[in-house]
Amino acid sequence: FNISSQTVSASCPSNIALIKYWGKYENQIPANPSISYTLNHCKTNTSMEFLADEKFSVKTFLAGNEEKKFAEKIEKYFKDIEPFLPWILKGKYIIKTENTFPHSSGIASSASGFGAIAKCLMDLDEEFSGKMDADFKLRKASFIARLGSGSACRSLYDGLVVWGETKEVPTSSDLFAVPYPNDEIHSVFKSFNDWVLLIHEGEKSVSSTVGHGLMKTNPYAERRFKEAHENFSLLKEILKTGDISRFMQLVEHEALTLHAMMMMSEPAFILMKTGTLEVIHKIWNFRKETGLHLFFTLDAGANVHLLFPENAEADKIREFVVKELLQHTQNGGVVKDEMRF
Ligand code: PMV
Repeated sequence: FNISSQTVSASCPSNIALIKYWGKYENQIPANPSISYTLNHCKTNTSMEFLADEKFSVKTFLAGNEEKKFAEKIEKYFKDIEPFLPWILKGKYIIKTENTFPHSSGIASSASGFGAIAKCLMDLDEEFSGKMDADFKLRKASFIARLGSGSACRSLYDGLVVWGETKEVPTSSDLFAVPYPNDEIHSVFKSFNDWVLLIHEGEKSVSSTVGHGLMKTNPYAERRFKEAHENFSLLKEILKTGDISRFMQLVEHEALTLHAMMMMSEPAFILMKTGTLEVIHKIWNFRKETGLHLFFTLDAGANVHLLFPENAEADKIREFVVKELLQHTQNGGVVKDEMRF
């Protein structure tokens, strides 16, 4: 290696899963395949200063404030990935990150955060180990990001992204994410809004690490993992034919299943809040009354991702959201994003 001090920087978007990853084995191997939309505006921007020949240590700053806990997590992560980046412990790091979306909004900052760190590390890897093929570099970034946070591996690609082996996507892998084949996606799914209602902005009561762990003893886990595979087969057909009604049904079912799994864990936990349920009921009533294509998904938190296609009807949906749904947020908080294609 030709190691020298360097500063690299990268930006990485967050993502929202349609078929959810919930439950994993050793070494961040997912218990089932998942697929997500990569967002357009919610991003983490990271700069990484590497000081060669200094004792290994990590300092992290989030929006200018030193974050010691995060630095400890990154130190451990860097030690874990040393087999894949053998130079990684040969210096000191100063990492500065900034999210373009509100802190603790429940938008997956671990996905964009680890995605951006993985991109920075791959730039350093290229500096020290020599030029590499662009596709290989991206794939390795996804592999490295996965070891930080599973869902982060999907943030390395735009559009619809698959992580976890499924027979429906021959290139898929448990080790890294791959883009879903673009020519198998109907155009209706390529310009989609995601407005995130910030129902509750505090810390989550149960982390996703603990949540994944509780799937080990969940009596419904095996059935759920099987269902995720079945849903992949259904989704593949839906994506091809452009059947938006079935798309809505499947995506909402996945979100509710994720939360049902939490409720059926031992010990049980509930991350939805009153506002989450109120919004869901209003969406269902609105759909019944208007037939418009507004639906939701949920992450491991109380906030609601409102999904709707960008078309001639989208303004009616936006009007409804502002008039009827914003009142259920904590401080009128909404992050207006869209899918990145
Ligand atoms: O990447 P993690 O370990 O934070 O898990 C995230 C899991 C969900 O966001 C709930 C679902 C998913 O597939 O992103």
